[in-house]
Amino acid sequence: MQTRKRDLLTACRLAEKAASRETKWRPAFHLSPPAGWMNDPNGLCWFQGRYHIFYQYAPFGTQPGLNFWGHVSTADLVEYACHPPALCCDESFDCHGVYSGSAVVMGDILHLYYTGNVKHAGAHDYVHTGRDHHTVHAESTDGVHFENKRVVLSHADYPADVTRHVRDPKVFYDDGTLVMLLGARRQDGRGEVLVYTGETPDIWKFSGAVTSEEKLGYMWECPDGFSMGGQYFLSFCPQGMEADGILYQNLYQSGYAPLSGRFTENPHIGEFTEWDRGFDFYAPQTFLDAKGRRILVGWAGMPDLDPSCNPTHSMGWVHLLTMPRCITCEEGRLLQNPLPELEALRLAPRTEDIQGRSWIRTPEVFEAWLEITSGPSGEVLIRDSCRLSWQNGFLTMEFVKNGYGRGSRTAEIPVLKRLRIFSDTSILEVFVNNGEAVFTSRFYPDAEDEGLEISGCTGTVTLWGLRKFSCGREHI
Ligand code: FRU
Repeated sequence: MQTRKRDLLTACRLAEKAASRETKWRPAFHLSPPAGWMNDPNGLCWFQGRYHIFYQYAPFGTQPGLNFWGHVSTADLVEYACHPPALCCDESFDCHGVYSGSAVVMGDILHLYYTGNVKHAGAHDYVHTGRDHHTVHAESTDGVHFENKRVVLSHADYPADVTRHVRDPKVFYDDGTLVMLLGARRQDGRGEVLVYTGETPDIWKFSGAVTSEEKLGYMWECPDGFSMGGQYFLSFCPQGMEADGILYQNLYQSGYAPLSGRFTENPHIGEFTEWDRGFDFYAPQTFLDAKGRRILVGWAGMPDLDPSCNPTHSMGWVHLLTMPRCITCEEGRLLQNPLPELEALRLAPRTEDIQGRSWIRTPEVFEAWLEITSGPSGEVLIRDSCRLSWQNGFLTMEFVKNGYGRGSRTAEIPVLKRLRIFSDTSILEVFVNNGEAVFTSRFYPDAEDEGLEISGCTGTVTLWGLRKFSCGREHI
């Protein structure tokens, strides 16, 4: 398999070398694929003094395909190094894609767990027959080279009532116990999470399944688990949930729910809350860093959308990851805020009072911090394209231009006091109040679409241009 690995990595390097050098819509401070397609963040961790971010990466085209794990690392979340793919589909047990998974540090070794996707030829629906989802383990001593890939769980080890869709292992320590969560689609059309405990990094025992009392979709992808403030949470991505008023408007959902106890205690799950209220957010993963912060990174994308939603297909690349976000818990609710490290990107600030109607010139890439002192309504038009408007306790993001099929999304925000708008070349991340909601969305403005137009409210706006972060591509 060494030859296949070498050939795949050479082909990847060539695809990256041949990638278009067109910079329009390439982000300044978000991670994007060197070539081709990017989806879920994988294997997030802090190892030997660096943050490692892996991601689903299909370098040979702008559709998901034979996915690899792309890889970047950074000591400070501002200067990144871009490494060769950490994992590629070079074994019989992962030959149709190294799918999503996670990392866990044990002493001097970084352990990765992922799903080896295999599709068999024949007349299959690939849900009930024709597919293998192996749970695979690999190791590294330097965080860059991964060896010794081996299957630790396969269908014979999964419960009899699940389909062939069992994937996305998330492995973590809970109070000294090694726990693995796997997303699953049951035969009866419900989603659930399988819980395993590890006797060793290779020997796993089934502990139970976590599901909801009322059906939440047919498949739960990308599970994650953690505790905060004494409360356990399950994060997961249900597919197949119906929209309900202003909720669950995207094709697939991504959210979290509190648990009644530990993962190994057959817990019940509480109310499901969406992580993000914008158009482009899916498959987030969290990890604890050396400072004890729980950090979340999501995919600023959505599976199975029409390619016309993202015009960079024609430039040979598509999708981004979100900024890393710090997660905290307040009265049972999870708050998301940008990390202070990103402030290193700020250029000179400018503060202006807002009164009536103001038009504020902005650079192409900026952060704007609005402190709102007036009453229940107002609006901000960002780069002539995206209108944020608030009225009677609801905040709406609406694309008037450059949304490429994106319309509007609304969240209930009883009192709006603050908006932190991060506007990169082709993505908006808007943090509301103290982080009680976030709206993430791609958009594709032209250079002449500029400025912030604020009306119907009073307060102040502080604006920073943001410089580009570096992502050295030394291996290309
Ligand atoms: C979520 C997902 C995962 C899977 C991966 C494949 O976006 O479908 O369930 O492992 O993408 O790229």
